Amino acid sequence: MQQVNIGLVGGGTVGGGVLSGLQRNGNLLASRLGLSLSVARVAVRDVRKSRPVALPAGVITGDWRQVVDDPSVHIVTELMGGTTTARQVVLAALRRGKPVVTANKALLSSHGEELFAEAARSGTNLYYEASVAGGIPIIKVLRESLVGNRVQRIAGIVNGTCNYILTRMKLEGACFEDVLKDAQRLGYAEAEPSLDVDGHDAAHKIGILASLAHGFWVQPEQIHVEGIRHIDPLDIQFAGQLGYTIKLLGIVREGPDPGKSTRRNGARPRPIQVSVYPALVPNSHVLASVNHAFNAVAVRGDVVGDTLFYGRGAGADATASSVLSDLADATLDLKNGSHRRVPPFVAHEGHATVSPIEDLVSRYYVRLSVLDRPGVFARIANILARSGIGISSIIQPEGHVGEAVPVILMIHDAPNAAMRRALQQIGRLPAVKSTPAMIRVEPLE
Ligand code: NAP
Ligand code: HSE
Repeated sequence: MQQVNIGLVGGGTVGGGVLSGLQRNGNLLASRLGLSLSVARVAVRDVRKSRPVALPAGVITGDWRQVVDDPSVHIVTELMGGTTTARQVVLAALRRGKPVVTANKALLSSHGEELFAEAARSGTNLYYEASVAGGIPIIKVLRESLVGNRVQRIAGIVNGTCNYILTRMKLEGACFEDVLKDAQRLGYAEAEPSLDVDGHDAAHKIGILASLAHGFWVQPEQIHVEGIRHIDPLDIQFAGQLGYTIKLLGIVREGPDPGKSTRRNGARPRPIQVSVYPALVPNSHVLASVNHAFNAVAVRGDVVGDTLFYGRGAGADATASSVLSDLADATLDLKNGSHRRVPPFVAHEGHATVSPIEDLVSRYYVRLSVLDRPGVFARIANILARSGIGISSIIQPEGHVGEAVPVILMIHDAPNAAMRRALQQIGRLPAVKSTPAMIRVEPLE
């Protein structure tokens, strides 16, 4: 084999980035791999659409089966998105024994186990570096570089669109809807941008990282997900006054130790807690300075200690860089006849559990809109005190008696379940004029 032929299904933002990356660095890759890479077929939805990267006649098709079934295509690259047709594409290619490269985190989150099983059955491989954190090689880091560690915590900014929106809201006072449109124009957002702003895309990614780190596939419904739609410019402003920056975080942490198990060979693994939510990050922490569409993932291993991986998390070129890396691995595996040199995922933990967010103990920022009149604050403080929840500080800008004013409460460590119940009671007080806004504080110590 002198040349490896690639079939792309999807030629949009990421597909276009891969095509231009191959045009730019194809010769470099060939000299590094000892084989040249050639794009044999590209499937798109609309074959008449004009595209920034010119392709030879006959390469483009509107039918993905022509890519997967083409005997000259050695590696199939799924860059179309979605979970229905994309699943068919990946399964069909694997069943033909063709290695598959994908950037599709939604697909892996929902169908990862099925796809990995099919890859094993077919004796081929599934590569997915581009599915998490764009150009940051975090899959390789967890699967290979940190394989000798127990991962104690992962905390990351893993959605470029949300980070871009929050950054511009903070630095420019820009409006959420306008910045989201810019993120779409720049190719950061998903085709369905609610996947980004409602936290689901980050959940797909943190679920993949949690699964790799803990050796069992975390199901999407086991992940607590909150997005950024409810973040008000006031929250960004008050967080700044208090020395924090609001970031959408994906977090995997170890839950409380359940003690020794009855299992013969030692302690039952600690449950893990997997979640996505906006959080106040201290400005002194490096994650607070990760701006625009950049991502960063902080991984704490029991041997290595703290590590940090930073880079562009979304967009054509950043993502294409990871796809090219997978194409290089797939090419070398084909060349060396070692299709499963590094299996895509190893399930090694059969007794792990995921604990609900209610069990989590955290600190909180709470913003209330309350009528400025005597006795109101005493009622709020009373509800918190009865729930065993302590206030660490209060900000109340001066207002006019009888008018609604914002009140900011910083709350000491408290269980999520207790906090949720207390805020429901506070929200029902007649003097509280809107649903209380609650954002967790993540000291990331
Ligand atoms: P996109 O710009 O919307 O491109 C999707 C491509 O798939 C388009 O070329 C589209 O054709 C084609 N397509 C859609 N349905 C098809 C079908 N039934 N048959 C054949 N082709 C079809 O999306 P994208 O941003 O490149 O994202 C692609 C994947 O990469 C998604 O899974 C996404 O989550 C993931 N990803 C994206 C980024 C990013 O920054 N954008 C980063 C990491 C991962 P037309 O061009 O004719 O519409
Ligand atoms: N929509 C995703 C993001 C693309 O904004 O992070 C990269 O996965």
